[in-house]
Amino acid sequence: MTPAPAQLARRAAELRTLLDRANFLYYVDDAPELSDPEYDRLFRELQAIERDHADLALPESPTRRVGNEPASALTKHTHRRPMLSLANAFDPDELAGWEDRNAKINPEVRTGGYAIEVKIDGAAINLTYTAGRLTTGASRGNGIVGEDITANLRTIPDVPLVLKGRHHPALMEIRGEVYFPLASFAGLNRRREAAGEPPFANPRNAAAGSLRQLDAATTRSRRLRMFAFQIEVIEGTIAIPTHDRVLALLAEWGFQVEPHHRTVATLAEAQAAVPEFERLLAELPFEADGIVVKVNRRDLQEDLGVVGGREPRWAIARKFAPEVAVTRLLEIRVNVGRTGALNPYAVLEPVEVGGVTVSSATLHNEDLIIQKDIREGDWVEIMRAGEVIPQVIGPLRDRRTGHERPFTPPEVCPVCQTPAVRPPDEAMRYCPNVACPGRIFESIVHFASREAMDIRGLGYERIRQLLDSKLIADVADLYRLETTDLVTLDRFADQSAGLLVAAIADSKTRPLSQLLFGLGIRHVGKNIAQLLARRFRTMSALAEADAAAIGDIPGIGPTIAAAVEEFFASPANRRLVARLDAAGLAMDEPNAPETGGALLGKTYVLTGALPTLSRTEAAALVEQAGGRVAGSVSRRTDTVVAGADAGAKADRARELGIEIITEDELLRRVGRKA
Ligand code: IVH
Repeated sequence: MTPAPAQLARRAAELRTLLDRANFLYYVDDAPELSDPEYDRLFRELQAIERDHADLALPESPTRRVGNEPASALTKHTHRRPMLSLANAFDPDELAGWEDRNAKINPEVRTGGYAIEVKIDGAAINLTYTAGRLTTGASRGNGIVGEDITANLRTIPDVPLVLKGRHHPALMEIRGEVYFPLASFAGLNRRREAAGEPPFANPRNAAAGSLRQLDAATTRSRRLRMFAFQIEVIEGTIAIPTHDRVLALLAEWGFQVEPHHRTVATLAEAQAAVPEFERLLAELPFEADGIVVKVNRRDLQEDLGVVGGREPRWAIARKFAPEVAVTRLLEIRVNVGRTGALNPYAVLEPVEVGGVTVSSATLHNEDLIIQKDIREGDWVEIMRAGEVIPQVIGPLRDRRTGHERPFTPPEVCPVCQTPAVRPPDEAMRYCPNVACPGRIFESIVHFASREAMDIRGLGYERIRQLLDSKLIADVADLYRLETTDLVTLDRFADQSAGLLVAAIADSKTRPLSQLLFGLGIRHVGKNIAQLLARRFRTMSALAEADAAAIGDIPGIGPTIAAAVEEFFASPANRRLVARLDAAGLAMDEPNAPETGGALLGKTYVLTGALPTLSRTEAAALVEQAGGRVAGSVSRRTDTVVAGADAGAKADRARELGIEIITEDELLRRVGRKA
């Protein structure tokens, strides 16, 4: 090969410097300067140069590293197996290319199935278990050597100190991700600023920073959480044929496993699931930066091996690359959301991002505006990811003229002028007036929206007209409207009035999940609404449930559970729900029959790795048939479904004389098998 041109050598050196610095800021200082897409762009540019010009591929290149050297007073810990990183795919072609390359090594990958899961954007950790007891917990460091942070990791409730179940290998490493729940993040930064400390740039850095505290009490106060996703057996044998069994086993041993994982038969199915995950990610209570697609069969994983000691071939991160553009921020305005949140947003000079013209973008909350120092008149970078609303990344400070105006948060609600309040643990101000016309308007818009009650023809303008003419004051009033009321309004002919009344009547049949979403309960997005509807099946059962019963649902944490309980505790909300009931709305979930379900009223416990179903799938089948899934075996358990390596739970069931069945029998009972 001819040596690379001097210009390219210079560019490679420049990229190495930029990436080294970025790595250092990211891993060591927990204060990144480059955005993830920028980092990825530079990384790939350097990778491409090194691929084409072997003489520029230096051993010390940042492309050969996983992270950076640990830097602190903490002692070092050498991982027994390296902690690898993941290659990225930013579009369907790159994902397809990944399978094509793997198929050259073993064509069975095309039919062997894939596991898909959320890519948690936190700090990677490695937990060593000796005979089922936690002996060391370490950060990832450079992938070979990390830091011993055992004392800190012990403060995280999701890190089991002693594993449940049985069949623990004599020595193993469990890998996972420690993350900072979004709800705690805003509060932490506010406290830091109040104390004169610099805020964390994002929850990932907050998680990493919290893990590297020299005093474990500080770590504990941060309320970190953890999800596990990998088992490295060092000594001992345990047969785990697939990745979904890894996850089932981790859950059995007492780890938290991110609940949205699933298996698919082909890459086409994985590709088809991407938009759904993209929407899901926006709703999760923690930060996730894509999904991970993994070859499900562990024998195939082994065949595929590792590239350059850095990335396994059997897994890839499918990232949802945001589109980025630069424009002028003309003005910061505030609107009132349906929860009363005073949402600042940016009015922009229109600009095209990813094929769409954008003229406004969310600014999230006032803390973020202040943290990022976004001012009116600034040139700003904005991004749009998938269907998510455009966001302002930050200002381009070097383009400032000195005429930019800093933002002052509103003292009063811009619609009803009620003094705004700011709850101690939140980054937002709220309009506390439940009768605020701005809040009511937004709550009706949300109620009528496609993914909620889907009332066709009821958009912003008509809702405004109905409110202004006092024909309605809340969502329940919609169901009292008659054609004769509407024809008196501007731009309502007989026909359109009739259509709207029919569309409203049609919405009465929407399932409970859509109604729950439409009610705008705090923290209850579409997915949470579905989990609630599947478990409780009727509005009245949910209204009577306490936070403990709600929080029992996998995927629903205490914050959401408390918000739901609080919603139904309010007499005004109960009256609203009663009026909707009286208007004839369906208040149940047809897929989860209230009566007649084959497992009606039965409590099931799932244990061990089932031959074909994932834990989530099996739980969904039980719940759809009217049953309840509990986490542990007690006298109230009716049936235990046991798979391979079913440990303590099956033993306990035998002790108590509780029926134990196989997956096959479960499938028969729920009518999925003859
Ligand atoms: S699998 C390399 N699965 O992403 C094989 N990693 O960019 C093990 N991560 O270091 C990684 N969520 O800390 C895997 N569901 C997930 C993940 C995940 C987050 C992190 C992990 C890894 C990094 C690689």
